Amino acid sequence: MTYKNPEKIKEMFNSIANRYDFINGIISFGTHRYGKKQAIKDLPVLAHDAEILDLCTGTGDLAFFLKNSGHVTGLDFSKNMLALASKKVPEVRFVEGDCTHLPFEDETFNLVTMGFGLRNIENSDLALDEIGRVLKPEGLFLHLDFSKTNLAGDFVFDRIVPFLVRIFYNNTVPYNYLVKSKQEYFNPQELVEKFQSHGLKYVTQKYYSFGMMCATVMKRQTTR
Ligand SMILES: C[S@@+](CC[C@H](N)C(=O)[O-])C[C@H]1O[C@@H](n2cnc3c(N)ncnc32)[C@H](O)[C@@H]1O
Repeated sequence: MTYKNPEKIKEMFNSIANRYDFINGIISFGTHRYGKKQAIKDLPVLAHDAEILDLCTGTGDLAFFLKNSGHVTGLDFSKNMLALASKKVPEVRFVEGDCTHLPFEDETFNLVTMGFGLRNIENSDLALDEIGRVLKPEGLFLHLDFSKTNLAGDFVFDRIVPFLVRIFYNNTVPYNYLVKSKQEYFNPQELVEKFQSHGLKYVTQKYYSFGMMCATVMKRQTTR
């Protein structure tokens, strides 16, 4: 059993849900929402009736910034995170589900987004196959996460986050998990290669929040 056991991950997010937004604000010095907002703003404009899926939606931050870009569905396997998302963005449809078995038809979405999610998924290949399956041909995939190679990000994570998380979570488990999952995650170039190996085509890669976040945009090929 790996430390990314899905049941344990679900349990952890259910248990920290009520403090999740607050702690994110503290450990990113309020910049995480700005980075998320900008990453969404920089996406190509979609048709008004575009179908959009926000995976690992959590408390609905990306869904909030997407809400006027089309019909948005948010998916997550943590009930408690979803309960907060529904309050934050009532106009969005939220679905409880697992990214490795998406409850949607093939070629349903014009855009799939995933913020700080793939890093938590034990079988990320399965999730990426599912993303390719539910994207329409030429549909876009936005992946947003910490930028592993960034010095500012490493400083915040190695020096400041441990201190703050110990105070606010009163428990080192989420911190240990966060650091480990970040350290072991792909760097931006590796991410592109990983996505390409799932049939996605490179579009752009940009950095936000003083380089602490990296947004990678890929496109589904016309044929798979
Ligand atoms: C770090 S949070 C990110 C939340 C949000 N996207 C954000 O940017 O703030 C990761 C979320 O992924 C969800 N998650 C992890 N593995 C999942 C899976 N296999 N299927 C669905 N949701 C998953 C967790 O429940 C959690 O809400």
